[in-house]
Amino acid sequence: MKLVVIGGQWGDEGKGKAVDFLAEKAELVLRYSGGANAGHTVVVEGQTYKFHLVPSGVLNPGKTVILGIGMVVDLATLFEELAQLEQAGIPWQGRVLLSDRAHVVLPRYKEMDQHRDRARPRPLGTTGRGIGITYALKAFREGVRVVDLFEEGTWNALEPADRAFLQPYLERVRAMMTDVSALVHEKRGGNLLLEGAQGALLDLDLGTYPFVSSGISCAAGAAVGAGIGPQEIDRVIGVFKAYSTRVGNGPFPSRFTVERDGDLEEKVRGIGKEYGVTTGRPRRCGYLDLPALRYACRSNGIGSLLITKMDVYDGMPELKICTSYQLDGRRTEAFPASAEALERAEPVLETVPGWTRAVKGCQRFTELPREARDYIRRVEDYCGVPVEVISTGPNRSETIVRKDPWTPS
Ligand code: GDP
Ligand code: IMO
Ligand code: MG
Repeated sequence: MKLVVIGGQWGDEGKGKAVDFLAEKAELVLRYSGGANAGHTVVVEGQTYKFHLVPSGVLNPGKTVILGIGMVVDLATLFEELAQLEQAGIPWQGRVLLSDRAHVVLPRYKEMDQHRDRARPRPLGTTGRGIGITYALKAFREGVRVVDLFEEGTWNALEPADRAFLQPYLERVRAMMTDVSALVHEKRGGNLLLEGAQGALLDLDLGTYPFVSSGISCAAGAAVGAGIGPQEIDRVIGVFKAYSTRVGNGPFPSRFTVERDGDLEEKVRGIGKEYGVTTGRPRRCGYLDLPALRYACRSNGIGSLLITKMDVYDGMPELKICTSYQLDGRRTEAFPASAEALERAEPVLETVPGWTRAVKGCQRFTELPREARDYIRRVEDYCGVPVEVISTGPNRSETIVRKDPWTPS
């Protein structure tokens, strides 16, 4: 089977945890988009691991993990991450592979990214990791791919400073370099887990443009990233938080406000530890936005949802959910294409009972407080997609499976 895991919101939904959990039954785990702008946290038996580039399945012993075709790779960050794995006693040699078609991020791209974003009249608040520049040069057909580092012509055409940066990594990269499409074809009998980065609403085409990242983080990107056809994908799993967050700039209609919600943003940020893994920036927090989530489900073919962070809402007597927007004098459930329109949209909030008994520690769906189950049902009814997995804490073990996503439907 081939499963895709994508973020259903603006990133940081808990994809890292989901991928780590699902990787147990996968033969290959392939990350298909983005670069070191991502920050994926995995907690196993109390030990925390943070990944920017290495696929989150790597902690499962013996699994082969691949940095796929659609990625943009900063080699300094990659080898730093691999050294950290080694220090943590996790062997990676021979099982972390890198697509020969992936693009390389050069140090000057990071400087350009930071400079360009600061110079914008309305900065996007990029992570400064050179992502937009690398993808722009790729589209402009002036990018540097992994395979190009081993061709005399392309290597010699690089600037001396670029060659000096790249030289120390060459032999290690050569050992990891793989024809991804051929490998995936060879292993077609086994389970393949396709790991997305960022989220549906940060996708270059489907997201809240221009406040998006530059990769194909939507589900369709998984086929490109693995060098397979779209019909080969069996299921798309959308990971979403019980609430919403956003780091960086851009419209966020359901954000908590002090006037309406008091100190709720601070509270959720504190309990949920809502600070960026990559930049340390505080994430903006808000209510679950159902029109946005339904849009993400529809535009990505999400057939199964995985909810995270329900425990962060533990003990709150009352909650709200955004069910539509008031926009330009009318009420709508549609998710606008224009960032300016989304900026003008006022959230229409439905009040629902919270759960005073904790979801943290619950082992089964039936053990969850009734209000928590109702909250999940509200999402299912609205989006028309079942919530099949429930995460009740950051640890791998804090996961309730109602239906195993690997079970063929
Ligand atoms: P990703 O980018 O989608 O992988 O998500 P991040 O790792 O950036 O952010 C998610 C954060 O939430 C991480 O610190 C996770 O350890 C944590 N997390 C994941 N699932 C849960 C959950 O169910 N409850 C709580 N409290 N934390 C969670
Ligand atoms: P994960 O995989 C949250 C955001 C940045 C910025 C915008 C563009 O951890 O969910 P970029 O540096 O990509 O050009 O920045 O996208 N962004 C993310 N936000 N999670 C991510 O990844 C993100 N990757 C990029 O904050 O607003
Ligand atoms: Mg993240």
